[in-house]
Amino acid sequence: MKRVWRAMLVVASALGVVCVSWASDPLARLQDEHSYAQPERVRIRDLGLDLRVDFSSKQLSGTADLSLDWRDPAARELLLDTRDLDIVRVLGRSRDGGWRKLKFALDAADPVFGSKLSIAMRRQYDVVRIRYRTASSASGLQWLEPAMTAGGKHPFLFSQSQAIHARSWVPLQDTPSVRYTYSAHIETDAELMALMSADNMPDETRDGDYVFRMRQPIPSYLMAIAVGDLRFKAISERSGVWAEPATLESAVAEFADTERMIQTTEALYGPYRWERYDLLILPPSFPFGGMENPRLSFITPTVIVGDKSLVSLIAHELAHSWSGNLVTNASWKDIWLNEGFTSYVENRVVEALLGVEQAQMENVISQNGLKAEMQQLAASDQLLVLPALTGRDPDQALTDVAYVKGQWFLMFLEQRFGREAFDAFLRSYFDHFAFQSIHSGQFVDYLRAELMAREPEAISALELDAWLHEPGIPEFAVAATSARFAAVDVARSNFLNSKVTAAELPTTAWTTQEWVHFLEGLPSRMDGAQLVELDAAFSFTGTRNGELAQRWYPLTVRSGYFEARPAIAEFLKRIGRRKLIMPTYEALVDDPDGRGFARDVFAAARAGYHPITTASVEALLAPSEATGAP
Ligand code: BES
Ligand code: ZN
Repeated sequence: MKRVWRAMLVVASALGVVCVSWASDPLARLQDEHSYAQPERVRIRDLGLDLRVDFSSKQLSGTADLSLDWRDPAARELLLDTRDLDIVRVLGRSRDGGWRKLKFALDAADPVFGSKLSIAMRRQYDVVRIRYRTASSASGLQWLEPAMTAGGKHPFLFSQSQAIHARSWVPLQDTPSVRYTYSAHIETDAELMALMSADNMPDETRDGDYVFRMRQPIPSYLMAIAVGDLRFKAISERSGVWAEPATLESAVAEFADTERMIQTTEALYGPYRWERYDLLILPPSFPFGGMENPRLSFITPTVIVGDKSLVSLIAHELAHSWSGNLVTNASWKDIWLNEGFTSYVENRVVEALLGVEQAQMENVISQNGLKAEMQQLAASDQLLVLPALTGRDPDQALTDVAYVKGQWFLMFLEQRFGREAFDAFLRSYFDHFAFQSIHSGQFVDYLRAELMAREPEAISALELDAWLHEPGIPEFAVAATSARFAAVDVARSNFLNSKVTAAELPTTAWTTQEWVHFLEGLPSRMDGAQLVELDAAFSFTGTRNGELAQRWYPLTVRSGYFEARPAIAEFLKRIGRRKLIMPTYEALVDDPDGRGFARDVFAAARAGYHPITTASVEALLAPSEATGAP
């Protein structure tokens, strides 16, 4: 009796404390403040693209057919998101199958959200056709000259739609709360291959004319296209790698365990629901590590380091096939539902496949990163359940909080409810919300009904509230530890205390994570002689491993080790992955004689950078002139 009573109290107080932000108005939590669309009135059900990819003008041009599902009988207007699109004509398909011209208005552009496209109509058309052209500066596309590719002979195009860049290459409802199926006809140069986040055929004839179909409904941020000199090599029956010929073999070797990763994830969380799972290796200017475009994850080449030490990135993008692509955040303020769950699943797959030690090392690194980042963040940005991001660029609001605090919270739940119960819960969560877009409150309600109600004492309402609605990391959170890192700590302090020389350090079996931990534990400024010694022993300067470079170069800048400057310039020009290069730019900008060097390097590198990376570096170099882009 007493137990039941206490359980009721816990549930009641949980309802009272935790629901505050969405219980009063759950619809508000579903609202996407980054879209002009009105999904409660009308929704895109299917999209048909017919586009020409023209490398000489750096333009996509053609038509988008939007099949509409009208929800409000009184609605007579379709509001779409666009950015820098040239809208040529809008037509509505009449009952007799003919096309009727529709009036439209394109508003002035908001720097973050782009231009609202309003299409007025006398009746509710089932299909609206928009003829349009993209701008050569489209924020969601990067057009690469041949010199910026591995092969150097053919141009390359790729998209990056997340978070709100799909609107720069397709006029649509650019919100993760709307899902639709799509098909596409893509025409381009005959010697180039086009791929999309759809049913890419490994044995497709290369003729410049391609058709695609995506039968599972997806949100707009998962729209993706790439065109280039791309070849395929299988890893298994349902998975393989697309890459430029020069990169294909090394990529297949590095990612040979992909099929095993799929099977491991399936064993934990249920069948993979997207048929094929392929990887596309992009040029080094790709601004992210990876992007979970359905059926075809886009991957940076910077994780191909030869020893498979950075393959957790593949586990991450694959994991999104459950957390994110299947169950999606309805708006970007709930992105922890995508990235936190994915980081959790990623780490479980790493643990199952590569062992507990590997998983622990990765957790220590990410938790340390979170703690460091938190110190720079406003309290309101430290929440898992973020307040509305009104007026803010969602790319800007993305931090380790969604990833690492989100993962940490799920690890906490796992610890308290037990792995078996928590695994079953997550699996049923993915099933329950499959192909839906949800907000944090829906997850918490489900958690309450499926786990907390069964074991009311496992976690308290206050603990839940601390994770979801309070800044910082709860003081009761259990931090990750790693025995191998403890050995690295000993080695590092022996070196720093001059007990051993760099060459005597026991590093032969160290993998990337141990090196990362070694570098992260060094003092932020060091004596020149010690840096020279480390560099002589381990050749950090000029390393091809970006995870080491992004930690070593800032240290050389802060320590005034100018010998590294030529290698820094080479690194910043060769790579456009934001996470890898920003720490070095930041260190340079903080340094009185680094700023000019940073400007010069940026001026030389800029033409090769993706618009997202360019915007980040610009914002850093000239904060007052920043455009609001990331
Ligand atoms: N979906 C993200 C990338 C993203 C998030 C792009 C938000 C734009 C807005 C992708 O899955 C991701 O998280 N990539 C990480 C790698 C991961 C291992 C942490 C990255 O690119 O660093
Ligand atoms: Zn992710």
